Amino acid sequence: MIIHTIKELRELVKGWRKEGYSIGLVPTMGALHAGHRSLIEKSVEKCDKTVVSVFVNPIQFCPGEDLDKYPRTLDEDEELVNDVGADVVFAPSPKEMYGEGHILSNDFLTYVIPPYFYVDKLCGKSRVGHFDGVCTVVNKLFNIVQPDFAFFGEKDRQQLIILKKMVKDLNIPVEIIACPIVREKSGLALSSRNKYLTEDQKNDALALSKILFNIKACYNKGINDVSALSETAYSYLNSNHSLEYLEFRDCNDLDEKKTADDDTIVFIALKIGNVRLIDNIKLGL
Ligand code: PAJ
Repeated sequence: MIIHTIKELRELVKGWRKEGYSIGLVPTMGALHAGHRSLIEKSVEKCDKTVVSVFVNPIQFCPGEDLDKYPRTLDEDEELVNDVGADVVFAPSPKEMYGEGHILSNDFLTYVIPPYFYVDKLCGKSRVGHFDGVCTVVNKLFNIVQPDFAFFGEKDRQQLIILKKMVKDLNIPVEIIACPIVREKSGLALSSRNKYLTEDQKNDALALSKILFNIKACYNKGINDVSALSETAYSYLNSNHSLEYLEFRDCNDLDEKKTADDDTIVFIALKIGNVRLIDNIKLGL
């Protein structure tokens, strides 16, 4: 089933609540792949009812980013959702979410702004305002669906940490369930943006996971000096790569690590041509 309006979704969810069903929400921007699928499967397994939202959220794209060309594959997305056994796809229009003329300037819309300490680094540094857009839309989805559980991937680890912080700080009655990164056999983390890559670029994209896996292997051998671990990355990079960041940060509050330990996440972002890719790995279990 697919629903496009907030009103209809609220009615459906209200009925579920009356029956005492637990509700899971899987927020997505569509172009669903096996990574999204794993989140939906988790929700279907854990909750009586599952809502999958598919919404390319305009307010989380910065000027010059890929909002217009972001892949939109709603029919296939609905098929995947039905196949996994989730109950409904919620696919609102920007107008439905943000109102007439969907005025997106923060002069006119109430935003949820995550703390500066969490957004002045990693992806927040180059994507200014991105996490304001993410927190605002996820908060709206939480208010619309009022789920018991919401499922997010570790693929977007900074997003996951920021959303957990939002839920805690704003006392939102939802439990966030973190789901592991799904990768191709090659190691490449699945992403809707992989669709932009040519075969050659896909080959270059393997550098992300290779760098991370190698750093973890070195850490497991006993190296914990962050600059020594960082240096190991360079042998995987060539002139097709433009490295944006490779950083070692705490898994709970994103604080910088000078010495790597089990709570350290290694974050990487790089551009291949115009395509920006991210990945990360936790050094401990
Ligand atoms: P999107 O990029 O579509 O991702 C939706 C969810 O799928 C996110 O929680 C993301 O971390 C997870 N995901 C993507 N690729 C994954 C992979 N390879 N393995 C595991 N999980 C993966 O993230 C967003 O959309 C948006 O910012 C959103 C939260 C929906 C707000 O608009």
